[in-house]
This record gives sequence, C-alpha cells and structure tokens, in this order.
Amino acid sequence: MTTTITEFFEQDHKEIDALVEGLTFDSPRALERFERFDARLERHIHWEESLLFPAAARHAPQLQAGPIGVMLAEHERIRDLKEIVLDALRRGDARTAADGARRLFAILADHNFKEERILYPACDGSLGAAERGALLAEIGAGGGRAPKKAGPVTLELTVNEVADRYPRTRAVLARYGVDLCCGGVHPIGMAARAHGVDPEELLGELNAAAAPGR
Ligand SMILES: [Fe+2]
Ligand SMILES: [Fe+2]
Repeated sequence: MTTTITEFFEQDHKEIDALVEGLTFDSPRALERFERFDARLERHIHWEESLLFPAAARHAPQLQAGPIGVMLAEHERIRDLKEIVLDALRRGDARTAADGARRLFAILADHNFKEERILYPACDGSLGAAERGALLAEIGAGGGRAPKKAGPVTLELTVNEVADRYPRTRAVLARYGVDLCCGGVHPIGMAARAHGVDPEELLGELNAAAAPGR
C-alpha cells in the first residue's frame, strides 16, 4: 500500500511513461496512444498544481519560490510540447511529432527526476502524516481530477476557476493583468471591468486559448 507522496507520484510517473513506451509516430495508432498519455499526464500535473504544491507551500513557503516555481515553469513547457506533438499527429506529420516528442520526453525525464529526488521528499517532509493521507485519499477519490475542458469559459467563472480549469488561459489573464486580482476570487466579468478591460474581448481571447487542440 502506498504511504508517501514520493511513492505515489513516482508510480504515476512510471505508469504515464509506459503509455508511450516504444511509440512510433508513423503508426496508425500513434495519435490515440499519445492522447491517452496526454490525458494521464494532464491529470498528474493537475494533482500537483491544484492539491500537492499548494499544500506543501502552506507548510513550507520557501518551496514556492524554489522548487515549486521551477516545476510550474516546466509544466508550461511540457504543455507546449505536448500540444506541438498532438497538433503534428492530427496533421499526419510524423516527423514533427517525433521531433517534438524527443524534446518533450527529455524535459519530462529531467523534470520527473527532480520531483522524485527533491520536491516529493520535501513534500513528504513538510506535510504531516494525517494531511499526507488526506491528500492521497482525495486523489484516490478523484479529487483534483483534471476537469473537462469542453465547456466554454463564461464571465461568471472566477479568475481562479478559469486559471485552474483552463491552464492555457493563464498567459491571457497575465497579459490583461487580471491574474492576481484580489486573489482571483471575483468573476471574470467583474475583474475585467475593474481593470478597464472589455469583458467580451477578454472572454473571446480566453475561449480561444482554452479551446481543445490549442
Ligand atoms: Fe510535475
Ligand atoms: Fe510529477
């Protein structure tokens, strides 16, 4: 039975890696296999960003500025490369897909190594046994599961909800300066008006960024 953060997340890394083991990008099932890998990796990253990292940072604020900040930046790079591979596979461009995947897997190997050797053990050290158990139980029960991205962004969702459900909108929110507005607890429409931004214009850009396949 898994008892530590390190063991649970390390095992998840292994299972995710196995989904693309030996994958050849010119095979007819490459897209299907890579999409399954993508979904599992998104779920994993979502667990880290929405549950594990915030809990660890509450107990050890120094982690936020150090290893957590580095991992979050790498997640964005990982997401960008995944999209490059998915886009190439959907266009039938196996060569670009293989090239993107080579870069993705190299970054991922390095990223996972650092998490397993540095960040997860630090999380295990900073969270008490009870909180660690509660967090793992929440994940096991489906807590923090990556939400469906099918629905559009609406003006009623809060800034935090949009950033959390549609990670690719974060760059748009940052560009309009509404990402950290009042802790992100206000609806997008209200936050836009507070910053002198046209809500409909912002909504359009958010939905363009959040659209599947982007
Ligand atoms: Fe990660
Ligand atoms: Fe990870």
